[in-house]
Amino acid sequence: MIRIVIVGAGLIGPRHAQSVLSNANTSLVALIDPSPSAESIAERLQTNYFPSIEAMLQTIPVPDAAIVCTPNNTHVSVTRSLLSHGMHVLLEKPISDTVASGRDLLEFASQQEHRHLRILVGHHRRFNPYVRKTKEIIDSGSLGRIIAVNGLWTLFKPDDYFAAAPWRRSSSSGGGVIPINFVHDVDILHYLFGPIVRIHAEKTLHQRQDPSHDAEEGAAIIIRFASGVVGTFLVCDATPSPYNFESGTGENPLIPKMDGGADFYRVFGSEASLSVPDMTRWNYDGTEKSWNQPLTRDRFAVEEETSFDLQLKHFVDVIQGEEPSCSGEDALRALMACEAVRKAMEGDGRSIDL
Ligand SMILES: NC(=O)c1ccc[n+]([C@@H]2O[C@H](COP(=O)([O-])OP(=O)(O)OC[C@H]3O[C@@H](n4cnc5c(N)ncnc54)[C@H](O)[C@@H]3O)[C@@H](O)[C@H]2O)c1
Repeated sequence: MIRIVIVGAGLIGPRHAQSVLSNANTSLVALIDPSPSAESIAERLQTNYFPSIEAMLQTIPVPDAAIVCTPNNTHVSVTRSLLSHGMHVLLEKPISDTVASGRDLLEFASQQEHRHLRILVGHHRRFNPYVRKTKEIIDSGSLGRIIAVNGLWTLFKPDDYFAAAPWRRSSSSGGGVIPINFVHDVDILHYLFGPIVRIHAEKTLHQRQDPSHDAEEGAAIIIRFASGVVGTFLVCDATPSPYNFESGTGENPLIPKMDGGADFYRVFGSEASLSVPDMTRWNYDGTEKSWNQPLTRDRFAVEEETSFDLQLKHFVDVIQGEEPSCSGEDALRALMACEAVRKAMEGDGRSIDL
């Protein structure tokens, strides 16, 4: 039985708690959060409540592992403290709010006294069944040589999402649509197509009137991968739209799944193209490969599974020696690409090489 504490009881902490409670090999030993509302959440989850890691350590034996669900700009300090006390860490994405502090964390984790402890970064979409199926199709070669990818992450976040946690609208606290949302897509792009080496980005027009909302709302992004694959991506959290991962897959219980027409990725190969999440492969199999022929459609079935549960199961395996699906280095690479997007949109129009 792996004894797990959850640090941070906001939007995502309780969701991780559900996975811990439903896994036969893990037990939830405590919830830590200084916010006054957290105690009742711990009560509902029937677990211990502590306002800080220090308070927990004075009361119960050191847990085996922790899941860090605090704001982005606290990830490094919280994770350092947990490692110092001998806990393995599942750290929510992004690894940090800056590449420099993320790199510091990896250095700290690699020191002799912490090296036996494992860090898994919570880019949980690597476990999403649509992402897994897409990877399986690409790796099978049935699209031919991959040429390009096109993606969308567009939806509308209401004011109360930002009012509930003001760090989400502040670029200096790790907020904004690039580190909160696009970082997921970057990690999927890395997982599917390998490292990104160049980025160009143009910022969308600011829609929100609140002067404290200084974080970006969106960008049009051009990407080049080391493999030569190229991509375009549109990101925006200020437009009503079904074209995003959550609406297309239904993975987040708070965002309704929109059946039909909510494609968010298209992958183009030399033999066929694939749209996700309708998982349609468009091809000329059995006929002449020519724009004069009608295309054939194949559909792939996807079995629904909960990514957070699969990720937690993997975390248990990582603690027992398996390589992490998303290591600290993988997560740092995703953050570097996000920083490059920011630099490109704030800069003088030049592309950024990674
Ligand atoms: N994987 C996903 O799909 C997903 C979804 C949402 C959020 N996230 C990530 O999870 C993290 C938390 O996001 P959220 O939306 O739940 O944030 P939130 O603001 O809703 O909750 C964060 C909580 O952490 C608490 N906190 C702050 N500092 C703390 C500390 N030092 N120790 C203990 N608790 C502390 C706050 O009081 C708050 O309750 C972020 O890094 C975010 O990027 C991931």
